[in-house]
Amino acid sequence: MRVLGIESSCDETGVALYDSERGLLAHAVHSQVAMHEDYGGVVPELASRDHIRRLVPLFEQVLAQSRCPKSDIDAIAYTAGPGLAGALLTGASFAASLALALGVPAVPIHHLEGHLLSPLLAQDPPAFPFIALLVSGGHTQIMRVTGVGRYALMGESLDDAAGEAFDKTAQLLGLGYPGGPALARFAETGTPGRFKLPRPMLGSGDFMFSFSGLKTAVLTAVRERSLTEQDKADLAAEFQEAATEVVATKALEACRVAGLNTLVVAGGVGANRRLRERLDAAAGRQGVRVCYPEVALCTDNGAMIAFAGALRLQAGLAEPSARDGAFVVRPRWPLATV
Ligand code: KG4
Ligand code: ZN
Repeated sequence: MRVLGIESSCDETGVALYDSERGLLAHAVHSQVAMHEDYGGVVPELASRDHIRRLVPLFEQVLAQSRCPKSDIDAIAYTAGPGLAGALLTGASFAASLALALGVPAVPIHHLEGHLLSPLLAQDPPAFPFIALLVSGGHTQIMRVTGVGRYALMGESLDDAAGEAFDKTAQLLGLGYPGGPALARFAETGTPGRFKLPRPMLGSGDFMFSFSGLKTAVLTAVRERSLTEQDKADLAAEFQEAATEVVATKALEACRVAGLNTLVVAGGVGANRRLRERLDAAAGRQGVRVCYPEVALCTDNGAMIAFAGALRLQAGLAEPSARDGAFVVRPRWPLATV
C-alpha cells in the first residue's frame, strides 16, 4: 500500500510517500522559518499562503524522487489538526481534491499521532505498549500507548509547551526565531548553575508540567541587571538544564509507574541534545529503552503523516473520507479522543 502524506499544520510544508512494504520512498519539506523570522513568530496568514505555493512543487518532487506515478497512490493522509486553521485548510483541501481526482481515500490524521508514531519508522522499531513523551512547540504530553489509536493521556502542560518555553526564553535573550535550536546552541557556550532557575512541578507527584514560571524567572533575571553575553549564555544553559530535567524525570517516572520499559520521544524538542543525554543516561540505569525518530523527522514533516495513515488503514482505523471531496479540519483536537 502506498500512502501520500501531507503536513501543513504550522510553518512547515511536508509531503512524503510511504510504502507499507518498502518503507519511506521519498519525503520533502519546505520550512518557512526565513519568512517568519522578521516577525519573531509564525504569521498565520503568511503561513497559509506559502503552503499553497509549496504543495504542488513538493508533491511533484516526491513523485519524481520515488519514480512513482500518481496512479500508484492508494490513499492520501493529511494533517487534519491540531494547528493553525488556515494552514490546515490548505493541506486538507489539496489532499481531498487529489484524492477525489485519483479515486482514493483521504485519511485525516492527528498531527501528534504522526509525531508519536514516527519513531516506529526507524530500522529497529519499538513494540507496543510504550510510554510516549511528546514535546513540541504546541504540546507537552506523556501518553501511555497500547496500540495504533490507543492513547491514554497521563499528564500534560498546564500552560506553555516545552518548545514554546524554549522559543519565548530565546526571544528574551535576544536569540531570534526559531528559539529552540538557537537556545540549545547558545547554551553550549554557557555554564549551568551560576543562575538558579526553578524546576517547576518536579516534585508534584503527577505527570503535569508548567513552564510559564520558568520563562518568567528568566525574564526577572534579564530585568534585574544588564547581562553580558556570557551571563546570557549561562542563563540559557541553566534554562536548558531546568527544562530538560523536569521533562526527562517525569517521562521516566511514567515508565516506572506504568511498568513499561520502552520510552518513545517525539516532537521538535526531542531533537534537543541535552534532553537526549539526560534521558539516555537515566534510562540506562532504569533498564528503559529510549527510541527517537531520526533528527530530520523530529520536527514537522509529511513522512510521519503518511506513516500514521498507512498504520491506520492497515488497522482498519481510518475514518472514511467523504466521497464528494468534502473535508474537515480541527484546529483544537485532543489526541486521547482520536
Ligand atoms: O514538533 P515541532 O516541529 O512543531 C510543533 O508541532 O510544534 O516542534 C517545534 C518546536 C519549537 O518550539 C522549537 O523551538 C523546538 O521544537 N525545537 C527545539 C529544538 N529543535 C526544535 N527545542 C529545543 N532544542 C532543540 N534542539
Ligand atoms: Zn509538530
